[in-house]
Amino acid sequence: MKKLFIKTYGCQMNVYDSARMADLLAPHGYGMTDGPEDADMVILNTCHIREKATDKVYSELGRLRELKEAKAENGGRMLIAVAGCTAQAEGAEIVKRQSAVDMVVGPQSYHRLPEMIARVTRGAGAVLETEFPTEEKFDALPEERSGRGATAFLTVQEGCDKFCTFCVVPYTRGAEYSRPVRDVVREAERLAASGVCEITLLGQNVNAFSGEGPDGTRWGLAQLIRRLAQIGGVERLRYTTSHPRDMDDALIDVHAEVEQLMPYLHLPVQSGSDRILKAMNRQHGRDAYFNVVARIRAVRKDIALSSDFIVGFPGESDKDFDDTMDLVRSVGFASAFSFKYSPRPGTPAAVEKQIPEDVKDARLQGLQALLFSQQKAFNQSCEGKVFPVLFEKPGRKEGQAIGRSPYLQPVHVENALSLIGALRPVRIAAASQGSLTGVLQAENDVRIREMAH
Ligand code: SAH
Ligand code: SF4
Ligand code: F3S
Repeated sequence: MKKLFIKTYGCQMNVYDSARMADLLAPHGYGMTDGPEDADMVILNTCHIREKATDKVYSELGRLRELKEAKAENGGRMLIAVAGCTAQAEGAEIVKRQSAVDMVVGPQSYHRLPEMIARVTRGAGAVLETEFPTEEKFDALPEERSGRGATAFLTVQEGCDKFCTFCVVPYTRGAEYSRPVRDVVREAERLAASGVCEITLLGQNVNAFSGEGPDGTRWGLAQLIRRLAQIGGVERLRYTTSHPRDMDDALIDVHAEVEQLMPYLHLPVQSGSDRILKAMNRQHGRDAYFNVVARIRAVRKDIALSSDFIVGFPGESDKDFDDTMDLVRSVGFASAFSFKYSPRPGTPAAVEKQIPEDVKDARLQGLQALLFSQQKAFNQSCEGKVFPVLFEKPGRKEGQAIGRSPYLQPVHVENALSLIGALRPVRIAAASQGSLTGVLQAENDVRIREMAH
């Protein structure tokens, strides 16, 4: 058995891709190992979204080079592959900067890894695959192996046609593509059969899903979710990431109808200023965002929202930033990610006049203080409630297990170690900014899913 180590950066789509790369290489004799030290093959599945993400890749490659050399001195061989979005964006440049790299493979071509390994092993030098043959990839991948645990990601849509002016994703992941419904259903059935009870549907623009249905028509995400909810054993469904423009009525209605769909929605807004939203090419204004939030809260009053924000986008004035703060106060978020704008080569906003770093820092601090206080308040509002918790992993203390609430909050529970993989009612006893603690409740005749409503 050869040892494979995969390090994953970036978003959930990369987490999914890493699992599929492991599936792909298993029949070629590669078993997973926990660290790079004695690995025969190391894959860095990289992210290119901000400059920092890309910098991390090169510093990690520097460390790997030393391990590779040490292994060679002992007569062994370590293959190094760079996969993911940095691989797609920088291509051959990566091998130029770090000659220890043997393979560069983009997110749409990783099904070619086995033949790339064969070429490198034959002595072909570094090899590169950065084409965009999307359909081919999913068709060429083997079925996923079981043993993924209680929760799993399932990519249903890839790529992006929106071209926000700050974002590299349309360039690194290519055009929007939706998988056929039949393939998605089969994958979900296999996951459920292997013990997965929570599936998160993934796509860079997951709510733009438009896959070929079994009836020959195009199915939207709403229709897909209804179909997946019929699979026995699928107790929870989630989807991410959505674009505000694509939140249609059908999808909003599904939140009222499908009980497995968790009452939690990640809906990035980026800015609260119409002027900046326009400059970002977001294709929605501030009012459109308020409108989506109102529509979804009308059908599902217990829904909690999360979002992404960028501060210091070129041209952002104090007034624009105030508009963002105002939007946050008006909507109220259960959690959120916020970032300083990072100029990315090849994107339109990168060549605009930039906002000074100290202004970005101050704005980020102000925004995060507000978002953290909202998150803490939301968590505290959960105290005393009984939530169904899906237990995922052992906690730090003996006998403790950590699970997730419907709102994705980590919940720490004592005497729950034997419940990993199971869904149980838990009364929330205490809340902090980042997590909850709770006490197991007797199941009695309480219908677990109903408690989430
Ligand atoms: N597809 C999703 C998110 C993609 S990237 C969407 O449409 O919202 C995840 C987040 O990274 C984005 O929501 C954005 O907030 C942030 N991001 C993307 N490009 C960035 C950049 N150049 N600088 C800072 N943050 C960025
Ligand atoms: Fe990037 Fe915008 Fe596409 Fe999201 S919608 S992936 S932010 S270009
Ligand atoms: Fe990063 Fe690519 Fe995801 S740039 S956020 S890994 S789509």
